[in-house]
Amino acid sequence: MSDEVQSATVTQLNEFDPLSPAFARDPYKIYQQLRALDRPHYFAPHDANLLARYDDVVAVATNPAMVRSLKGYESATEAAERQRRANWHDMPYHERVVQFSLLDSDGDVHRRLRKLVFGDLTSRSIAGLEAEVRTYVVRLLDGIKDRDEFDFIADFAAHIPGHIIGRLLGCPAEDAPQLRLWSEQVVQFFDVDRTAQKKALAETATRDFYHYLEHLKAERTRHPKDDLISKMLLDERAGRYTPDEFISTCMLLLMAGHGSTIDVLGSGMHTLLKHPDAMAQLRADQSLLPNAIQEIFRYEPPLPFFHRHALEDVTIRGHYYPAGTTFGLLYSAANRDEAQFERPDEFDIHRTPNRHLAFGMGAHLCLGNHLARLNMRVIFEELFVRTSTIEGVGGETTYKPGLSVRGPLALPVRLAFR
Ligand code: HEM
Repeated sequence: MSDEVQSATVTQLNEFDPLSPAFARDPYKIYQQLRALDRPHYFAPHDANLLARYDDVVAVATNPAMVRSLKGYESATEAAERQRRANWHDMPYHERVVQFSLLDSDGDVHRRLRKLVFGDLTSRSIAGLEAEVRTYVVRLLDGIKDRDEFDFIADFAAHIPGHIIGRLLGCPAEDAPQLRLWSEQVVQFFDVDRTAQKKALAETATRDFYHYLEHLKAERTRHPKDDLISKMLLDERAGRYTPDEFISTCMLLLMAGHGSTIDVLGSGMHTLLKHPDAMAQLRADQSLLPNAIQEIFRYEPPLPFFHRHALEDVTIRGHYYPAGTTFGLLYSAANRDEAQFERPDEFDIHRTPNRHLAFGMGAHLCLGNHLARLNMRVIFEELFVRTSTIEGVGGETTYKPGLSVRGPLALPVRLAFR
């Protein structure tokens, strides 16, 4: 790369602000600049070196010496200091059951916790939920079909994941709106703007969520049902979960797929509205949907950023990093890497192969990926069967600010029902 291009890139990165409206409008321009750098960009607010190239992200995500948590590797004083620097401290419930979960464990503990729910989330296990998703989506569409316009996010997408994951776990259907609220309040704290106000909200939401799950657990202990929580109780009784691990696994399952599903449904619909040819092809031939859904995940991943800590010294692109360094895995940036994907900025529903990283890779590969894709497929199938046109209304679509999540804030649409 010429010095001119390199220095232009560096100047731009000095202005790198993931909370800015410009980044929300088009993060992909910045990701392109990050990939062009000859070394990972150090992002101080996360104390992380950002990896944007596909090969680098895969290498770190699949390296067993790159871990999610430094628990057990750093001293209590170091841990406390790191927590304090990142404003992750002084929140007893959040620290106990959100900051340490299956997602934030490694090695043997992670393998044990993952194995306990893995079998319940395979494509075969969740196939039984298809009818539930379909019935619920049809009911939602019936409820809005007389409206001239509605918000695809707030009035439609936002209702679905809480209901479905809640059903899988065994939460009563009427609790879905509350589950959504808690999930949003708890995970908002994962981005860089950890204000005191957000902190208080995240802690209160975690506390209330915790007590809700304790109550549900007690209820299922008395009256077991054919649901995941009742099955998890058998595992707890057999000593395979500690009480905190039990609650934290339930909470993670309820939260991990919540905002992400809402966001990707919104970005997916927005992307299709901008690509009417692709939408027309999908209407005409629904067998194209599974491939198109993979492309939506590649093109607009709802969870763009995760971290890893190095347990050993490591060299990346010829640059040395000592053990203890934190890396940011920009799955979204990797999904647009021209070295891996032809025409990466083009939305192509026929793309194959499509080894996107929206669900991560390696030991922490998303456990909900089959459920996420099932939801998407059934929702788009029903939308295309029951409507003759879907139009976007209103002006520019604004996306959420931040590095950790991506999805439209609102998406007003008009549907012509058949
Ligand atoms: C809707 C789209 C979704 C996306 C894009 C997504 C993405 C991801 C990603 C990237 C990871 C890996 C994190 C890392 O590398 O550190 C992950 C992990 C995880 N996801 Fe998802 N997810 C989605 C939906 C779901 C759903 C519906 C569920 C639950 C039913 C779920 C449950 C989990 C769990 C439990 C983990 C932790 C796995 C582990 O640490 O071993 N996700 N997800």
